[in-house]
Amino acid sequence: MDIQKIMVIGSGQMGAGIAQVCAQANFTVILHDLKEEFLNRGYQSIEKQLQKQLEKGRISRQEKDETLQRITTSLDLSNASSSDMVIEAVVEKMDVKTALFQELDRLANEQAILATNTSSLPITEIAAATKQPERVIGMHFMNPVPVMALVEIIRGLATADEVYEQTRDLAKRLKKVPVEVNDFPGFVSNRILMPMINEAIYTVYEGVASPEAIDEVMKLGMNHPMGPLALADFIGLDTCLLIMETLQAGFGDDKYRPCPLLRKYVKAGWLGRKTGRGFYSY
Ligand code: NAI
Repeated sequence: MDIQKIMVIGSGQMGAGIAQVCAQANFTVILHDLKEEFLNRGYQSIEKQLQKQLEKGRISRQEKDETLQRITTSLDLSNASSSDMVIEAVVEKMDVKTALFQELDRLANEQAILATNTSSLPITEIAAATKQPERVIGMHFMNPVPVMALVEIIRGLATADEVYEQTRDLAKRLKKVPVEVNDFPGFVSNRILMPMINEAIYTVYEGVASPEAIDEVMKLGMNHPMGPLALADFIGLDTCLLIMETLQAGFGDDKYRPCPLLRKYVKAGWLGRKTGRGFYSY
């Protein structure tokens, strides 16, 4: 199957970024979300990103306009029937994702690949919610999608070889570097990154140092481009907590216990950049 039309589900920070890179790689894109206001927010963030690229001379005005023209928005999931590939980027909750994949299994074209951008949830379990688990695969983009080269590709137990090959080739057509990893909680990226972020939060919680000092140590001492707490705010503290919970439940090991301060911030609605407050104020 030749992939031409891609439906992206969820127009938050990841979905909008995925829709943008797909449209910039000449695919026709349908961006889907639950409410018009969410779609508008996603579409506007794509416009803003493209405007920045235009101002930096990386794309022409014509490229910007044509990219936007390739993206339509949708509130109707049955639009999946006309897509060759669906990439899901909704909230990191298993029940939400499995309910969505059951619907997609029914509504999408039989040949379509159903990919999930989950950061940590088992692909095999998401796939098992469908009647065709062989067409379900993990396609884990990094944030911000237009900037970051890596895409982790994760097969579920039943994923067909051709589904893997087409997904890997799609990542390359999006000018990304696909790396295949196995289906374990957090895959590779978040299994290693999130415990480090959680430890940085414990370091604040135990009064060892301020967020600014911790981030400075990690930037200057370890050559990280961004400190772990600034990165946590960027990812979203709600998403960080959900990933830690997945690691803890998946491995059954207390070393993945989310820091109480992370829980407290999420309860307070301090989710990082997206709410204007996290470890820093925005
Ligand atoms: P977000 O909160 O910015 O966006 C999620 C979007 O999904 C919202 O617009 C919401 O309205 C929509 N949504 C929720 N349920 C839906 C449904 N049933 N149908 C359609 N739309 C629905 O979240 P974000 O950060 O974009 O994360 C999305 C996914 O990407 C999660 O699985 C997350 O783990 C993963 N991810 C996140 C990264 C990050 O740095 N934030 C990095 C890589 C993956």
